[in-house]
Amino acid sequence: MKPHRIAIIGTGQSIGNHLTAIHALGDRVELVAAVDIDEARVKAVIAEHNIPRYYTHTTDMLSAEQPDLVHIVTPPATHRALIIECLEAGAWVYCEKPLCASLAEFDDIDRAEQRTGRYVSTVFQWRFGSAVKHLKSLIQENALGRPLVGVCNTLWYRPAKYYQNPWRGRWATEVGGPTATLGIHLTDLFFWLMGDWQEVRAMMGTLERAIEVEDVAMAMVRFENGAMGTLTNSVLSPRQESYLRLDFQQATVEVNALYRYTNENWRFTVPDDGDASLVQRWQAIKDNVSGRHEAQLRDILDSMEKGERPPVSGHEGRRILEFIASLYKSALTDQVILRGSITPDDPFYYAMNGRTVETA
Ligand SMILES: NC(=O)c1ccc[n+]([C@@H]2O[C@H](COP(=O)([O-])OP(=O)(O)OC[C@H]3O[C@@H](n4cnc5c(N)ncnc54)[C@H](O)[C@@H]3O)[C@@H](O)[C@H]2O)c1
Repeated sequence: MKPHRIAIIGTGQSIGNHLTAIHALGDRVELVAAVDIDEARVKAVIAEHNIPRYYTHTTDMLSAEQPDLVHIVTPPATHRALIIECLEAGAWVYCEKPLCASLAEFDDIDRAEQRTGRYVSTVFQWRFGSAVKHLKSLIQENALGRPLVGVCNTLWYRPAKYYQNPWRGRWATEVGGPTATLGIHLTDLFFWLMGDWQEVRAMMGTLERAIEVEDVAMAMVRFENGAMGTLTNSVLSPRQESYLRLDFQQATVEVNALYRYTNENWRFTVPDDGDASLVQRWQAIKDNVSGRHEAQLRDILDSMEKGERPPVSGHEGRRILEFIASLYKSALTDQVILRGSITPDDPFYYAMNGRTVETA
C-alpha cells in the first residue's frame, strides 16, 4: 500500500506532538507539506524537520498536494473553516481540541462529512493508551459492575505569561478557558469510561488571571446510567495533577498523572469483601503504551484504510462540545442544563458564552 500523504496546518508550539506521531508511523505515512500564515515560522519548521514544502494558504496546499490526511494544529476558532475546506478537498482530518467553537459549528462540520464521505477525528490522545483500552474492555464485559461515582480533576497551572499568546484567554479565539481547552481531555475520558452525561450544574470564575474566560470551573454531573460525578478545571493549581477516579460496584479505578500516563499511574482497588481475582484481571494489561498522538493516529489510519468512521468523531465529538456549552450555560445562567436542551433557538448553540462572538 502507498503511504498516506499527510499535511500539517499550524506550525506553532504543539506541532511537536504531531511530528513525533508521524515519525512513529514510519513508512505508513509521508509528511508532504506544512502550512502556516506566519511564513517565517513555517519556513524555519520545514527546514528543521526536513518537510519537503511549505505554504502560507491552506487552499494552495490542498490543490497542489491533495493530501489524504490533514492535521490541524491552529487556534480553536480557526478549526471549523479549515476542517470543512479539507473535507471538501477530499482529505480526512485529525484536528486538535477543541474541535470547534460551538454546536452550530459542529453541525456544519457534520454536514460536510455527510457530503464528502470524509471524516474528522478530534485529538483526544488519552483514550488510546494501554490502560484505558484495557479498562474500557473490562467495562464493556461488565466485569466491574455499574459505575456509581466519579471524580474528574484537571488541576493545572498556567502562569500569566501563558496568556500573552494573543488568541488565548478570549472567548472569540480560545473558545473558553480550561474547561474548553485543558480539562477537555480528562472530561472526554470521563464520558468514554463512565457513560453519556445527562445533566450538569456548574459554577465558574475568573479569580486570578487577566482573561475574559474562566480560570476555574466546577461542575456536578448526572450520567444517563444514574451515576454521579464532579469535575474541576483549573489553571491556578501550583501542584499540578490530572486525577480521574471511577467507583464501580466492584472496584475503584484511579489515574493520577499530568500530561501522559503509563500503566504505573493507575491504581485498582477492590472492596474488602470484593472479588480479589479482579485485581489479576486488571493487572493483565498486555502493553504499556502511553496515551499519545501516535496511538490515536494509528487507529485513524486503520479507519481510513477500512473506509470507516474513525474514533472520536460524530456522536463522540459532539458529546463533549455539548457538555462544555452546557457547563458554561449552567454557570452563566444558574440553571441545571439537560443534555439535548441546547438547540438552534438557544444562543449557547452559537457561542460557548451564549453571546455572539466577534470574529478574531
Ligand atoms: N492535544 C494536546 O495535548 C494539545 C496541547 C496543546 C495545544 N493543543 C491545541 O493545539 C492547537 C494549537 O495550539 P498551539 O499551542 O500550537 O498554538 P500556537 O499559537 O503556538 O500555534 C498556532 C499556529 O497556527 C498558525 N495559524 C493560525 N491561524 C492559521 C490559519 N488560518 N492557517 C494556518 N496557520 C494558522 C499560527 O500562525 C501559529 O503558528 C490548539 O487547538 C490547542 O488547543 C493541543
